[in-house]
Amino acid sequence: MITIKKPLSLRGDITVPGDKSISHRAVMMASIAKGQSRLKNLLMGQDCHSTINAFKSTGISIRAKEDIIVEGKGLRGLSSPIDVLYLGNSGTTMRLLSGILSGQNFKTILTGDSSLSQRPMDRIIRPLRLMGADISGKDNGNLAPLSIKGAGSLKSIDYKTQVASAQVKSAIMLAALYADGKTTITEPCRSRDHTERMFNLFGVDVEQKGLSVSVKGLADSELGPQDIDIPGDISSAAFFIALGVLSDDAQIRIDNCGLNPTRTGMIGALKRMGANIEIISDGKGFEPTGSIIVKNSSLKAIKIKQEDVPLMIDEIPLISLCATQAEGATIIEGIAELRVKETDRVHAIKTNLKALGASVETEGDSLIIKGPVKLKGVSVKSFDDHRIAMMSVIAGAISKGNTSVLNTDCIDVSFPGFMDTLSALSK
Ligand code: S3P
Repeated sequence: MITIKKPLSLRGDITVPGDKSISHRAVMMASIAKGQSRLKNLLMGQDCHSTINAFKSTGISIRAKEDIIVEGKGLRGLSSPIDVLYLGNSGTTMRLLSGILSGQNFKTILTGDSSLSQRPMDRIIRPLRLMGADISGKDNGNLAPLSIKGAGSLKSIDYKTQVASAQVKSAIMLAALYADGKTTITEPCRSRDHTERMFNLFGVDVEQKGLSVSVKGLADSELGPQDIDIPGDISSAAFFIALGVLSDDAQIRIDNCGLNPTRTGMIGALKRMGANIEIISDGKGFEPTGSIIVKNSSLKAIKIKQEDVPLMIDEIPLISLCATQAEGATIIEGIAELRVKETDRVHAIKTNLKALGASVETEGDSLIIKGPVKLKGVSVKSFDDHRIAMMSVIAGAISKGNTSVLNTDCIDVSFPGFMDTLSALSK
């Protein structure tokens, strides 16, 4: 449990741990490349440990020195694990790994914790079956445990996804490396493009046209190893961006942070609300990075449209919190995907913000939040969801009195050291 009250002021320069999405992809690509890759600033949160442990179980040596050293064994170099692979809370691991396992020559069983076991898997199973993998799972193949029997070589497909999901797109892109010919994936709106950038870094050509991406199978060629420097996670920085904007007296600077435009939707939304946020770009690596400077701001309500939601999908809990302090009714449309995250985040946002005194309603797939309302500390649950736990702590830091957040161990899923960073800023 964490108990928090409003600090007098928040000042300082911080960095946040490595980006979770990029860390997963770096471990996966380094494992199927041939040779030694060096990963710098890899996120050592529980989710990334699930990815590391999964690849160790398939015979890949991954060791921590100053950086993380991965001895990749090539596209078809993984070996059959002796046991079931337990992937904890990590949806990204289960979905992306399924793409790679579809191209291997053995059978694997994937399980996870009670949250992961309830998350929809048919969205990846359908395309991977079309490519030739033999996959079954609970509930007609919609839920984990999943059994994946790879086909070694896969068929290329031209596939339209129902939802904008980088996990689905990436599972198909990874399987596409093992397919004959060109695989094309078309999404209803744009999702984060870290796999596209990581493929480019490893020398795989990705063709992007509008909402479609195409990847050609690698046949007998192999990927070379890489040294990868992973930027700070904008989704972790987001907690301190919201805190800086919402606090009475704040100036927070976040350095070496990822600024990929498919991830910075929250910054754009907050700027539209009137937030005082300055961005200083560091120039361009394989991912754009830079510093973010945030000061306390007065906010006004805005409308967020469905097509913009994927660009801030993990930040909707924080934008909702910011909306409680904005003048007017903020409407966030197209939030259906939030119901199938680590918990039903629509329910969790509504429950916790209402408990603190906010006005939050749902209408179909929209959230409607009226502000400004002065929040008052109470005891709330984390729903065992890392982002709900941290959003609730930030809510406590702008509320009157004490707020307790129960079951906060889940914070380690994506942000070990979150409370230390908050304490370092608080006066
Ligand atoms: C992720 C994609 C998003 C995001 C998740 C990480 C990724 O999920 O919510 O935290 O690394 O590809 P969806 O693909 O389900 O939208």
